[in-house]
Amino acid sequence: MKAGIIGLGYVGLITAINLRAIGIDVTGIDVDAKKIELLKEKKSYIYEPGTDNLLERYNLPASTDVKAIADADLVLITVGTPSNDDGSQNLTYFISAVKSLQDINYKGAVVPRSTILPGTTDSYVTPYFEHVGYNPEFLAEGRANEDFIHPDKIVIGYKDEYTRDIMKKLYEGIKAPIIETDIKTAEMIKYANNAFLASKISIANELGNITKKLNIDVYKVTDAIGLDSRIGKKFLNAGIGWGGSCFKKDISALVQISRIHGYEPEIFNAVLKQNDLQPLKIIDILRARTEIKGKNIGLLGLSFKPETDDIRDAPSIKIASALLDEGAIIHAYDPRAMNNFKNYDDKFKNIDYCENAKQCVERSDAVLILTEWNAFKDDRLYPADKIIIEGRRIRGKEGVCW
Ligand code: UDX
Repeated sequence: MKAGIIGLGYVGLITAINLRAIGIDVTGIDVDAKKIELLKEKKSYIYEPGTDNLLERYNLPASTDVKAIADADLVLITVGTPSNDDGSQNLTYFISAVKSLQDINYKGAVVPRSTILPGTTDSYVTPYFEHVGYNPEFLAEGRANEDFIHPDKIVIGYKDEYTRDIMKKLYEGIKAPIIETDIKTAEMIKYANNAFLASKISIANELGNITKKLNIDVYKVTDAIGLDSRIGKKFLNAGIGWGGSCFKKDISALVQISRIHGYEPEIFNAVLKQNDLQPLKIIDILRARTEIKGKNIGLLGLSFKPETDDIRDAPSIKIASALLDEGAIIHAYDPRAMNNFKNYDDKFKNIDYCENAKQCVERSDAVLILTEWNAFKDDRLYPADKIIIEGRRIRGKEGVCW
């Protein structure tokens, strides 16, 4: 079986190389010639544990010319669908990927995998191709290769039997429950998944804000409620709020489409609002302990979670901005994300980026731990007489919700 993948960003690259690992003849397409060159050298341009090894071992043929996948049995579309300023989805790349397949009169199954609102495939793809489906991804950064090979579920939305059958064949090598559904439902499952996960974390954070006032450790509470099998233990870690490229974008798009249909989704509005405020709670706690103006404040961790250099929607952005506005001198260290952070905003250029965690702690009067990198878990890093406040639970000493 031959498969094509259009869009070799994060999701496309992980999908393509893992499909090759399970024996599918995949070719990747991207408009960016630099990516294709790097793939020829078997080099990854994203930071995701395990990807370099997979590329070295399985090699991903790739091209800028969509004709290279003209004879594929199916094509997955994995281009980015970023948010417009009003939260609506920007389909520019998606529409141009679909058009490139129309231009070569492609006859196989066209299966978007980008996150797109319910109805998008039926509006922009279904009218133009005989075989159409939708196949959402649930890859979490830092563990995406593992998530691909051992997923909790595979969702296959389809219009026709050819697409259903070829998609089932594509995933034959992976052991997971398969959910077969219509296309619109498959699109909705992705949003529901992310909306639920983000809301679950926000509930833990809200509980944490309350327990902090009551002098109760929220982790004792969430560990206990997590044992109720109806609740479950995962995604109950309270802290400075969720970040990353998906949760905010997806919930905002869900709110937007809901409004278009005349319904105001109060729960998701509240989740977005709560998460906007959550990062700043750590500054309130810091302010109660020390003056901020003119003080040296250390930030340990800038990425939105460990094992990634990604800072998209990272709580560190809001926290660093607010501290700079209050006149703090910031010293920061992150094992991977310092370059991205420096280039995110001109005002972040003047931050003192340290060589390691120890240096960052030494140069600071008070330290905020913003990402739970393993390197920050060593107790010896933290002198007993220094203010150390955790935004992510590392040691369970003073923290944003505990
Ligand atoms: C998420 C979904 O998990 C994934 O299925 C989807 O495809 C894309 O979005 P990702 O954004 O990579 O993946 O990271 P995830 O591990 O879900 O974490 C998101 C944010 O929530 C991080 O900032 C993380 O620190 C935070 N988080 C996670 C918590 O604050 N508490 C938790 O208990 C779990």
